[in-house]
Parts: sequence; C-alpha cells; structure tokens
Amino acid sequence: MNVIKNISVLYTCREEGSQAEVHPIQNGAVAWSGGIIEWVGRESDLPEKFDGESVNVIDAEERMVIPGLVDCHTHLCFGGWRADEFEMRIKGRSYLDIAKAGGGILSTMNATREFSEEELLEKAEGLLSEIVKKGVTTIECKSGYGLSLDDELKQLRVYKRLRSLSRAHIVSTFLGAHTFPPEFKENRQGYIDLIINEMIPAVAKEKLADFCDIFVEESAFSIEEARMILETGKKHGLKPKLHADQLSGGGGAELAAEVGAISADHLEQISEIGIKSMAERGVIGVTLPLASLYTQQPYLNCRRLVEGGVNVAVATDFNPGSAPSYDLSLAMMLTCNHGRLTPSEVLKGATIYAAKAIGMEGWTGSIEQGKSADFAVIDSPDVNFWMYHYRGSAVDRLYLNGDYVS
Ligand code: NIG
Ligand code: FE
Repeated sequence: MNVIKNISVLYTCREEGSQAEVHPIQNGAVAWSGGIIEWVGRESDLPEKFDGESVNVIDAEERMVIPGLVDCHTHLCFGGWRADEFEMRIKGRSYLDIAKAGGGILSTMNATREFSEEELLEKAEGLLSEIVKKGVTTIECKSGYGLSLDDELKQLRVYKRLRSLSRAHIVSTFLGAHTFPPEFKENRQGYIDLIINEMIPAVAKEKLADFCDIFVEESAFSIEEARMILETGKKHGLKPKLHADQLSGGGGAELAAEVGAISADHLEQISEIGIKSMAERGVIGVTLPLASLYTQQPYLNCRRLVEGGVNVAVATDFNPGSAPSYDLSLAMMLTCNHGRLTPSEVLKGATIYAAKAIGMEGWTGSIEQGKSADFAVIDSPDVNFWMYHYRGSAVDRLYLNGDYVS
C-alpha cells in the first residue's frame, strides 16, 4: 500500500463538468496498491487503513499533483530527421513548397523504409524514454511513414514491441493515408485500393492498431477518399480519426462528425458548421500548437471550439517535420497563449480529454479510484503558476502504474 501526502493541490481531472473543471482537492492525498488507485480525497479524511505502519508514505513536499499526461497525437516511429527543412522554413520556404519539392513526409518515408524494424525500435524506445521523463504516461503513436504494406506494418510492429519494453501505455493508429507514395503518384486510386484491400485488413488481422487516421488536405486526401478509407477502417474495427482543416479548410471537421470519428486534429481552418457538427456528435478537437509554431502557420483559436461545445484535447504532433519537439507542457503553454485556453482548461485537455481522444478514459487520464496509478508531482504551487512560469523541466517525480519511474 502506498500513499502520497503533503500535496498543495491535487488536480483529479475527472471528466464531468466543463473544460475548465479540473476538480482540484486542496491538500489532497492518493492511496494505491498493485498499480491501481484505491482512495482519493483530502489528506485530513484519509481512512485509517491507509495510515498504518505498513503503508509506504511519499511526501509531495507541498507541490501540486496531476494525472500522468496523455499525448494523444504523435508520429513517434520514423527514420532520420529533417533539420534542413527547419532552416529552409526560417529562410522563407513554406511547409507545402518543401513537400512539393520531394521533402516533407516523403523524405521521412525514404528514411523510414531504409531503417530495419530493429533500428526503428531502438530509436523510438530512446525517444519514448525521454518523453516519459516529461510526465507523459500514455501516448498515441501513428504509422504513416512507410506508405507500403510492409513498411506500414513494420512501423506498427515497432509500437507493439515497444509496449512490452516501456511502462508507458501505448495506443497505435494506422495512418497509411498520410500522403501518396511516389509509386502511386500517377495512380491515386491504386494506392487507395491498396489501403482498402490490403493494408487495413492486414492491420486488423494482426491487431496492430485501434484507430485509422487520414490526412485530409488539398495536397493529400480528398473528403471522398477519406470517407471511403475511414468507412473501410470501421468495418475492420478501426475507429476513425482525422488530420483535418490544417492548411486549408475543406469540410474535414464535418466529415469527422459524419463518420463518428473519436477526434479531429489540427483544425486551424475549421468552419462554424464544422464546430457545430463536431459538438453535436461529441467529436473531440485536438489542438497541435507545436505544428503551428514550427510551420509558421496560424494557431487554432480553441476558445471558439470550447464556446461551441467541443471538448479540446492538447497534443504535440511529435514528428520530424512539422513538430520536431515532444514537449507536451510546451504545447500546453502555447495553447494558453495562442489557443486562448486557461491553464485549467489545457490541463483537462492534456489529461482526461486526451485520454478520451484515444479511448483510454476508462483506464487513465484522471486520478480516480479504480484507475491506473499514473500521476506526476509538478514543482509548482498550482496549475496557473506552472503554465505562467513555463520552464520545461517542472516534472519533479512521475508514477506509472503505481511505480516510481523518474
Ligand atoms: O500532423 N499533417 C500531416 N502530418 C504531420 C506532418 C508530418 C511530417 O511533416 O512529417 C502533421 O503535422
Ligand atoms: Fe500529425
């Protein structure tokens, strides 16, 4: 039996209530055993059985405690990097321009195809262990840099193996529809057929992913193509997710609502109708401010979504091109300053709403009895001060499945 005490504020982040309601408990305490939370409340109300001599007591030293963070949108497994493109963008070339000239996703596709499964695994494992140190206990990981049957499966198998190597909770998403590979440049339908007839069935058969994602964009997949692919995914048990309305607004959010997607991500160009349809169907909006930062594009005004009734999750979009940082608390701070959400609202967005965006809310994302004991001690008196005095290294201690990890 373990108990953590002497907490300034315990943010339980239960789901009920609005985006701003993080259900704080002043001077809270948490008790857990076997990796599962057994009791949550005010320290002064701690039941006797959690107070005996056999209990292992942890002192939070008057710091705040939050649920382990959930990064609900990453492209963790990839070969190579693209630091050259970073410099090109600073000098004025756009993300799309670079992609059209053969850089972008296709450059990472080439590098990822070159890497063996072992090499990809080693790289992804190293990155994940750094990510966990930043307070992330649950992560969603996408394929999408293979763009052939074998190479997509290779990326997804890396995630499967990573699950037994890391303590973090890992959720996988198939993103074969990230862009069109060069072999199918003149034969779009050929690639769509490959996704529908071979990739999705193979991914489902090997149980390599829970979600099917697609990049809906003028430069990638159309609404009609996306509808076809996402509906096929659904038939094979893969729940839909979308990269929608990022660089151009073209009805991606509306499609997310139509197909019953669990989330629509990016959304910088979302329409009013898009907001309304997502709210009606309960689709979570995932904001990815690091992609706006690194591509010099406008940020999503998340306030519009929250006021329109959409729950907003915050994620990094970690990938070697548009978002080469995996710092989720930086994404949270940017969502405060540019997305116009308060620190409490972004905390809910990086915990329970992010867990909902990947179907993990029954297991993690909040500090509640019966859930996995995943939480971080943050070196700050409260969430407002944490985001205000952003310094990248505020995670003091992290517990995952009840075990101290860093
Ligand atoms: O989410 N938008 C599409 N995919 C990624 C970028 C991937 C890349 O540039 O490699 C994103 O931003
Ligand atoms: Fe992405």
